Amino acid sequence: MRLMRMILVGPPGAGKGTQAARLVETYKIPHISSGDMLRAAVKEGTNLGKEADTFMKAGKLVPDDVVIGMILERVAKPDCANGFMLDGFPRTRPQAEALDTAMTKANVKLDAVVLIEVPDQLLEERACGRRSDPETGLIYHLKYNPPPPEIAERLVHRKDDTVEAVTTRVQKYHSETEPIVPYYQNKGILERVDGVGDPDEITKRITAVLKS
Ligand code: AP5
Repeated sequence: MRLMRMILVGPPGAGKGTQAARLVETYKIPHISSGDMLRAAVKEGTNLGKEADTFMKAGKLVPDDVVIGMILERVAKPDCANGFMLDGFPRTRPQAEALDTAMTKANVKLDAVVLIEVPDQLLEERACGRRSDPETGLIYHLKYNPPPPEIAERLVHRKDDTVEAVTTRVQKYHSETEPIVPYYQNKGILERVDGVGDPDEITKRITAVLKS
């Protein structure tokens, strides 16, 4: 499999985490989720986590300087030398520009930015029904991908998967994150994928655009 440096973009609940978990198996690259890294920092109670927590609970974006430093440090690690899959970063124009600057300095290029498109009216149900398994990292949905009953007790319902926070997250996606779509389109590396349908089918759509 050829070297791959890519980004998954999409609104909250689009299926970025679900698809990333499958794609990194195929491409043998690390999955770097800014949301997962921030949640781990909150759990550990680090300074970064304390700063991020209030923003995250409210569904707002964590300030650029905090997130940019965290991700650039991560992609500079040796396991990213042969590629990586960014999920949830960049999410603002300054984040996209900071990533570009760092990659130019490292003399490497992005191969693809995949935009998973899902209409707003489906996002609340997807996010609010999500349950995550802290032991395996697997993502379930109470209706669309029900977890086995024996693990029900340990499943986590994210603090920002409330109707109120999801509404803010969707608004933030449109105002702050969507502007990076034309940014990558102008670079000729944007691929749009319909994110409605069976997750297996969506994986096939993504792998097809990546092959092309
Ligand atoms: P983050 O963790 O990145 O959350 P998000 O972008 O809002 O995305 P989600 O994790 O909610 O959804 P997803 O697209 O991964 O969907 P999933 O596969 O889980 O960020 C959280 C917060 O951290 C932000 O609000 C912000 O505060 C902060 N943050 C993170 N990065 C930042 C950055 N770069 N800058 C600033 N702040 C940042 O699927 C959702 C559900 O749908 C699951 O239950 C799943 O089972 C189900 N599902 C998936 N696919 C399908 C399908 N095809 N059909 C039906 N159901 C499906």
